[in-house]
Amino acid sequence: MQRSPTRVRQAPVTFSRAGVTAAFDAARWTGLLELAEACDVRVRWSCRTGVCHTCQSAVVDGAVAYSPQPLEEPGGDLVLLCCARPITPGRVS
Ligand code: FES
Repeated sequence: MQRSPTRVRQAPVTFSRAGVTAAFDAARWTGLLELAEACDVRVRWSCRTGVCHTCQSAVVDGAVAYSPQPLEEPGGDLVLLCCARPITPGRVS
């Protein structure tokens, strides 16, 4: 079954380097960067709108959807934490 990003209300996300796992609540957080900050996980950022790629991180597993859509999506297994929302349980570095 395919899930729409808007239907997933909560998904567990692990920040691997920090060793922190928390539930992403789509009604509360605009993106993974806000969840990281709420969990005191240090993440570098600048624009918070998907332009600068300063918040880029590796996705270990799981899937995300962007909202807003970044100017240019990072390649490979990288994700922009400021505008990415998890659509499955997952892990980022
Ligand atoms: S902070 Fe600039 S792209 Fe995320």
